[in-house]
Amino acid sequence: MTDDHRRQTGYGSENQPEPDSHVTSSTPQPEQPDRARRYHVKSFGCQMNVYDSERMGDLLSAQGMEAVSTPDEADVVVLNTCHIREKAAEKLYSDIGRLRQPRADGSRPTIVAAGCVAQAEGAEIAARAPAVDVIVGPLAYHRLPDLLKEAQTGRAIDTDMPAVPKFDALPARRVTQASAFLTVQEGCDKFCTFCVVPYTRGPETSRPAADLIAEAQALVARGVKEITLLGQNVNAYHGGLTLAGLIRELAAIDGLERIRYTTSHPRDMSDDLLAAHAEVEKLMPYLHLPVQSGSSRVLKAMNRAHTRESYLATLAQLRAVRPDIALSGDFIVGFPGETEADFADTLSIVREVQYAAAYSFKYSIRPGTPAASMADQVPEAVKDERLARLQAAITEGSLAFNNSTIGRRCKVLLERPGRKPGQLIGKTPWLQSAVVSIPGAVIGDIVEVEIVGAMPNSVEAVPVNHPARESAAA
Ligand code: 5AD
Ligand code: SF4
Repeated sequence: MTDDHRRQTGYGSENQPEPDSHVTSSTPQPEQPDRARRYHVKSFGCQMNVYDSERMGDLLSAQGMEAVSTPDEADVVVLNTCHIREKAAEKLYSDIGRLRQPRADGSRPTIVAAGCVAQAEGAEIAARAPAVDVIVGPLAYHRLPDLLKEAQTGRAIDTDMPAVPKFDALPARRVTQASAFLTVQEGCDKFCTFCVVPYTRGPETSRPAADLIAEAQALVARGVKEITLLGQNVNAYHGGLTLAGLIRELAAIDGLERIRYTTSHPRDMSDDLLAAHAEVEKLMPYLHLPVQSGSSRVLKAMNRAHTRESYLATLAQLRAVRPDIALSGDFIVGFPGETEADFADTLSIVREVQYAAAYSFKYSIRPGTPAASMADQVPEAVKDERLARLQAAITEGSLAFNNSTIGRRCKVLLERPGRKPGQLIGKTPWLQSAVVSIPGAVIGDIVEVEIVGAMPNSVEAVPVNHPARESAAA
């Protein structure tokens, strides 16, 4: 499992929520005028959730507050929640349970419940967790500073889906890393029957292309070399240009070396986007294209608007124009009514496509979505067993993909230190995590390497034309 995947899923342990009903929200944070107020933002969800956390951080920093890396040191803790599956949503309550405990000096932090759980269950949070001071949805977080002021006299809530775009109200970004996210599109009109996103993130909206080009230029001026365009339905982007048009404009920015985008819907893989994969060198050869199931019967019940065959046809077109494209997907096992034969179709599509990476989830009932009330819910034990078989097939596929890249020479954008001294970890064009030791190289560099070893979730690489090569390969 890659770090990106962890960020994407926000999955973890199965904490039980701590009951909150005997607590009041009236323990004020003592004023400490000698130092800046401190904040901590915790992300629970997908890349867009991580992006939103960064932007909330930008807002609070612009207020003169200081970011800290743990909730224990913070005066304000923002829990940026995810509603996509039940487990992800429940994590909010276990965190609140911890944060509401008084600290040694009797204080506790101001608690902000943000993100998609706040949007979907604001009233329930208010009733179940009196310790929460601010409840703010993903389309209203530009109001966070105002809400924190309001919270001094009582709980503040904003879960509106305002017509005025929040992006216009956000301050400049403080990005320091070489790879940055850029949200270009939000919301979804597709209404897959399992999914909460159309309810939590609202209808599809695209940011104007001119704003995005300006934001990208500002990011590059701050040293960003790679931009990942984000949207729940990113390839449905229509902000004056198509996604392919936007990619072509961004590719003209000097200093921007790599462009990626996620997450796409199979129905919106247009011809001009396929052509961009053939023609735009800076567009990386990687596509995350969730299929959810390999069974056309289940896809119909999911309201996915594509079949197994149309999905495979799209991939064939893409591979025809960009033969080295690496593919990833999302899968749900145990959707209501899924039979063993349907599941066999899912296993077979995994083998047929040869995904470089894939993310798999047990179907999780989301209240208010059509699938929640479908008959034939699949027993948990069956879901567990199918998930294990699917994950084994996915791991086998990822290892096969990584093995197939041994011997390739490529560029790696170095992103973070590795485990051993001198090691750095970066991304290949195919989004593999590559572990490499290059004396003198630093995070943010793009280095030329050869892939020499493969594991399911990473590859080992050595520098090309570099004295370290012989020793590292030995
Ligand atoms: N249960 C399980 N997985 C889900 N996803 C979305 N909704 C659900 C649900 N109710 C998965 C899909 C989607 C990914 C982000 O999360 O695979 O692509
Ligand atoms: Fe979770 Fe979906 Fe919200 Fe992302 S958009 S934080 S995956 S519910």
